[in-house]
Formats: sequence, C-alpha cells, structure tokens
Amino acid sequence: MPTNFLFLLNSLTLAIHVLIKMEKNSGTRVSELFGSLGSLLRRCMFRILSIGPIPNHFAFIMDGNRRYAKKQQLEEGAGHRAGFSVLMSMLKYCYELGVTYVTIYAFSIENFKRRPDEVQNLMDLILEKIEGLLNEESIVNEYGIRVYFIGNLKLLSEPVWVAAEKVMKATANNTKCMLLICIAYTSCDEIVHAIHESCKNKWEEIQPCNSHKVCNGGIEVVDGKKIDDGVLQSVQELCRVETNELQATRASTARSGVAEGVERTGKINGVAGHAVHGSCDKWDEVQSLEASRSGNGVISNEESKKLLVDPSILKVVDIERHMYMSVAPDPDVVIRSSGETRLSNFLLWQTSNCLLYSPNALWPDMRLWHLVWAVLDFQRSHSYFEKKKKQL
Ligand SMILES: *[C@@H]1O[C@H](CO)[C@@H](O)[C@H](O)[C@H]1NC(C)=O
Repeated sequence: MPTNFLFLLNSLTLAIHVLIKMEKNSGTRVSELFGSLGSLLRRCMFRILSIGPIPNHFAFIMDGNRRYAKKQQLEEGAGHRAGFSVLMSMLKYCYELGVTYVTIYAFSIENFKRRPDEVQNLMDLILEKIEGLLNEESIVNEYGIRVYFIGNLKLLSEPVWVAAEKVMKATANNTKCMLLICIAYTSCDEIVHAIHESCKNKWEEIQPCNSHKVCNGGIEVVDGKKIDDGVLQSVQELCRVETNELQATRASTARSGVAEGVERTGKINGVAGHAVHGSCDKWDEVQSLEASRSGNGVISNEESKKLLVDPSILKVVDIERHMYMSVAPDPDVVIRSSGETRLSNFLLWQTSNCLLYSPNALWPDMRLWHLVWAVLDFQRSHSYFEKKKKQL
C-alpha cells in the first residue's frame, strides 16, 4: 500500500479522534456540529478504505468490561453497559464500511461458572438488550440486520431464550447484513453438537428402511430393502463412542484452562477428523453395500467393519453443515480487546485462515481508530490469506 495513502488515513483518523475528544468537552449544540462533521469525515475515510479489500466477516471478543469498571471505580454492571454502547458503535461502523457479517462473543458456557449474582445481572442486562433490539430506533431496524443467536440456547433461562427466538423470527426477512450473537456458546460444544446431529441424521436415514417403513426424499432408491442389523448397530455404537471421546477431550481441555488458541485448534480438529471416520452420513456407501451383498443377502462382519472405518463415510463438510455457525462464511478478522491473544474457545473450527487483531484497549475503550487499524492490518495480509485459501 502506498505510503501517501497510509498517511492520509492516519491524518483522517487523527482528525476524528480530536473531534471526538472535543465533543466530549463541549456543549450540546457544538457537539451536534462536531457529531455531523465527525460522521462526514468517517464516511470519507471509509470511502478511501474501500479502495482496498474490506473484510466480509468481523468477529469480536469483547474482553475487559470488568477491568474497565474496576479501573474507573464503577460498579461491575457499569462496565458491561459501557461495553454495550461501544458494541453498538462498532456495529454501526462495520455496516457503514460494508461488512456483511459481524459475530460477537456475548456469553460463553464457561461464564455460567461465575458468581451466581454476576451471572444473573449479566443475564438481566442481556435480556434487556435483546428486547431493545426490536425497538424502532435500534440499529437492527436502521440497517436491516438479520439477527442469529448462536449456541446452546437451551442453557439459557426461559425469558432470554424466548426473547432470542422472537428477535430471530422478527428479523428473518432481512438480508443485507447479519449479526451473529454467540450466547451460551463454546467451540467444543458446537463441534460435539454438530457431530451428534450428523450421526442422528444418518441414523434417521437408515432406520425407516430397516423397519420396512417407506423411505422418503433422496433415499427412496433403497425403499423396502433391508439393511443388515449388525451394520446399523455398529454405526450406532461408533457414533456414541466417538461423541463420548470428544466430550472427554472437551472436559480435559476445560480442566487445563485456556490453552493457546492455535494449539487447541489443532487438537480439536485432530479429534474431530478422527471422529469423522466413525460417523455416518453417506448414503452412497450404504448403497454400495447393498450391491456388495452376497447371494444369501447378508454381508459379513468384515465387510461392515471395512465400511464403517472408511474415512469417506462422513466428510468434514458434513460436520460443518451442522455447525451453529454454518449460516455464515468463516470470519476474516477476529478482534480481541485488552491485548489478549487467545481465542478462549471461540470459533476454533472457523478461524484457521483468519487474522487475529488484539489492540491493548479494554473493550469499553475501543474506538473507531482500532477498527480502522484492524482493516488496514487485514489489507496488508490479504494477499497472504488469499494464497492460503487457494492452496486448500
Ligand atoms: C417474512 O416474509 C414471509 C413471506 O414473504 C412472510 O410470510 C412473513 O410474515 C415475513 N416475516 C416478517 C417478520 O416480516
């Protein structure tokens, strides 16, 4: 990128920085003037930024709300409230910039282990903010955003869960931008869930045929044919065993606390890749099994075993289809505030080709400036990531 261009951007963001500072110290009318000036400058800067590639999907880990409250000697809830208003600004900037997907880590399953009163306060705040999303003046209406809640929503209290469902339903026709809110989410839980669903899916495909019921959809071809009970049992066994294995890994990683994100991604993918072997979503295989039957219509145990350890039975894409995050492409940039560089069980499956940007600011101290730097960082490394993606 030409140096002149970077210099221009720097001057622009600095100007906005000064404007925001001045705005804080001035009266309402002056601040209105600066507000519109700032917004004009911001749009101007976004125009320039858009000459380069813009990330399609931003993900945020909003770290440092509690530390911020402590630093400012505020009560804990005040930190989260300040964090929420920064989140709204960040969302606005993202959509102004032309980002289509924004994912936020709102509440991890691990967070349920915090003090009960803190969890309760956070949940109350989350409920209040979810209900606020449908207000006339909310950002959801302003930008026509479709909202998804991502995670194990069953773990939420009923009012929160009901409110989340309501927002998803009410915004289901919006197509321009998406907001994915990870709540009661961890990557491990998502992966276990996806494998579970894949196995269940396969099992449901096989079962009606086995019990001589009419098969529907794409599996009608084998209507009426009976599949060897031994195979079915092994499929079921394998699904159960592999899922347990992953759960064990999850428990052990949870015990060891937050390991390095990269290292953990490797581990989890390894286990999941192995689990894929035992899973069961390939109807083709069952059909070829049908074909390979010997005259008496029974396949040997050897044959069924060979079938079930075949890695092509279930591919990574089959698991991916059942991920909560399958509604969006993988993120291009993850921003984690507070200078932390771990992923803390957030989007581990989806971030193998993703830039991690971690400014030192606590989340409520995040400003437009930080987002612009993240975009510049993305533009600098864009060709590298593109090359990587082509290699896949
Ligand atoms: C979305 O569109 C469908 C079909 O056009 C319509 O039936 C439904 O009421 C719409 N939902 C909302 C929330 O507007």
